[in-house]
Amino acid sequence: MAVSGHDTTNGDGSGPTRRDFLYLTTGMAGAVGAVGVAWPFIDQMRPDASTRALASIEVDVSAVEPGMSLTVKWRGKPIFIRNRTPKEVEDANAVALSELKDPLARNANVAGDAQATGADRSAGAGRENWIVMVGVCTHLGCVPLGESGEFGGWFCPCHGSVYDTAGRIRSGPAPENMAIPVSSFVSDTVIRIG
Ligand code: FES
Repeated sequence: MAVSGHDTTNGDGSGPTRRDFLYLTTGMAGAVGAVGVAWPFIDQMRPDASTRALASIEVDVSAVEPGMSLTVKWRGKPIFIRNRTPKEVEDANAVALSELKDPLARNANVAGDAQATGADRSAGAGRENWIVMVGVCTHLGCVPLGESGEFGGWFCPCHGSVYDTAGRIRSGPAPENMAIPVSSFVSDTVIRIG
C-alpha cells in the first residue's frame, strides 16, 4: 500500500490503516460517551458518599511556620490558611473596632453577631496565630494576594480592596470581611474544614 501524508499505516502493512484508525477513534468516543452517561447513575446511587467527600477536608499544617501560608481547595473555593507572626496578630488586635468597615466577625465558628475582633477572626483561644478564610474577595469574587496591601494582609488587584492581617476589609469597594468557614483543629497539626 502506498504511504501518503494522510495514511496511518506504518509502511510494512502491519500497522492500522486509516480506516482502522477512524474506527478506533469512533470507539473511543463511544466509550467516553458511555462513561459520561454512566456517572450520573452511579452518583445517584451513592449520594451520601459524594456529599461526604465534599463536606469536609483535613489539612496537615505542620510545615506551615509562622509567616507562612497555605492555600487549599474546598468546595471549589480557595481557602487561605495563614500562620500569622506575633506582629501580625498584634497589628490585628490593636485595631479599634470603630475603624472597621465591616464590624462583624463573619466567622462560622462563633455567634452570627460576634464582632470582628482579632480573637474572633482567628482559629480560637490558644491558636490566635492561625487564620483560616475563604480566599475570595467579597466585592466581586477575585482571589486576593497574600502579604500585600498597606495593612500587610491581603490585596485584591481587581478593584483595589485591601484586607488586614485578620482578613478584615479596610479599604476599597469590598463590603465584608473575608468569610471564615466552619473549621477546627482536630490535632495539634491538622485542621478540618467543613
Ligand atoms: Fe476584589 Fe473587586 S473583586 S476588589
